[in-house]
Amino acid sequence: MNERDSEIMAGQLDQMGYQPAASDRDADLIVINTCAVRGSAEEHAFGYIGQLRQLKDERPGMTLAVAGCMAQEAGTIAWLKKHAPQVDLVFGTHNMHQLPEMLDRAAESDEMVVDVWQSAGEVVEHLPSRRKDGVRAFVNIIYGCDKFCTYCIVPFTRGRERSREMEPIIEEVRALADEGYQDITVLGQNVNSYGHDLEPARDLADLLVELEKVDGVRWLRYTTPHPRDFSQKLIDAIADSQKITRHVHLPVQAGSNPILKRMNRKYTKEAYLDLIERVKLKIPDASLTTDIIVGFPGETEADFEETLDVVRRVRYDSAFTFIYSARERTPAARWEGRDPVPNQVKKDRLNRLMALQYQISLEANEQLVGKQELVLVEGVSKKNDRVWACRTHNNKVVLIDRDPAEDLIDRFVPVRITGAKTFYLTGQQAGRPVSPPSPRRRVELPMV
Ligand code: 5AD
Ligand code: SF4
Repeated sequence: MNERDSEIMAGQLDQMGYQPAASDRDADLIVINTCAVRGSAEEHAFGYIGQLRQLKDERPGMTLAVAGCMAQEAGTIAWLKKHAPQVDLVFGTHNMHQLPEMLDRAAESDEMVVDVWQSAGEVVEHLPSRRKDGVRAFVNIIYGCDKFCTYCIVPFTRGRERSREMEPIIEEVRALADEGYQDITVLGQNVNSYGHDLEPARDLADLLVELEKVDGVRWLRYTTPHPRDFSQKLIDAIADSQKITRHVHLPVQAGSNPILKRMNRKYTKEAYLDLIERVKLKIPDASLTTDIIVGFPGETEADFEETLDVVRRVRYDSAFTFIYSARERTPAARWEGRDPVPNQVKKDRLNRLMALQYQISLEANEQLVGKQELVLVEGVSKKNDRVWACRTHNNKVVLIDRDPAEDLIDRFVPVRITGAKTFYLTGQQAGRPVSPPSPRRRVELPMV
């Protein structure tokens, strides 16, 4: 979501005539688009803002802006005023569509301009955007979140749920497909509550079924769903679909019922496991992934064992695992003050959880060795330029040998899986690409 916002800000800057700079040192403008979901992301941002002080001292004419979720927090503004007076402009998540006008104001002012809206206005359509290089395109469909999980800052920084109408979403996806994007992910903090606020009400299954009809789209993804709103209708739509990828990400967060209750997740361990069973029944080849928090205030060893139990039962393909961090304004932050899990215990639990999950991830990947898969080639591997990094429909990374004479980026290629590691698979090309070269990649190939 945060990266998608950056693309929209970059699109506005494009229209103003800005061009991407090669490095911080060459930039006339730096916009730091912050994330506040966990403490670690915030620490990164604070560190980076601090580092930029020297740059600003050397080139006082440049403009420094801080945007995004952190700007919605009162604590950040106070910190910036005290420790980072070099910042020219601070704005939040609700008014980033006004970036050009805010930059004008910052240019005219001698003081830090702070423009943070407490709540969102109407959904703004037809914003320009400069999509990041890559083969996947992300499309917002619902903003905000009404769930108020007690550890989570998102409802405070992103506001109430607001869905986009279906028609502009379909138009956007059609335009992306015409440009050559074949792998589309629709986005929302709580993506499967899409449409309940529209007139007439719609849902995610309705939208995905419509998007499936767009020629040129081959893979349709959605993130991030909430287990409570994951309807049987959606499961059936995925099972019946040729394009909605068979990857189901269902954040469980914790396995113990008392902890789930205090997290305000609105489901029990049993209801969650029942949902997983229904997914497995209808979509047996689905890969399953999750998000898990360890060290929520008051989490006991017995509570944590329940989380491990869920992991053992579901056998996720992979999991994002986090240590709980207290977030401003959330109820759990107050409990953290009274009943924190000691840091060492948090770390120890995270390590035990990761060790279990890594073992299961490896075993799941080993099951794929010898199988044929269709992959989308995403680019040259960062670690080895003789290897293509590709992705399967269910989000597994596959590394295959690369012939530098042929540009396969953005093409669908059949591969045979030859090896399994915890985080990726290795494979060999098993035939010609099944899709034509993408119109976005009509570039001269280097002579070899
Ligand atoms: N502490 C740790 N992890 C968190 N997440 C959200 N809020 C917190 C927090 N306060 C995790 C959840 C969520 C993911 C995006 O980040 O697991 O699903
Ligand atoms: Fe945060 Fe997700 Fe809960 Fe919404 S559903 S409050 S975004 S964790």
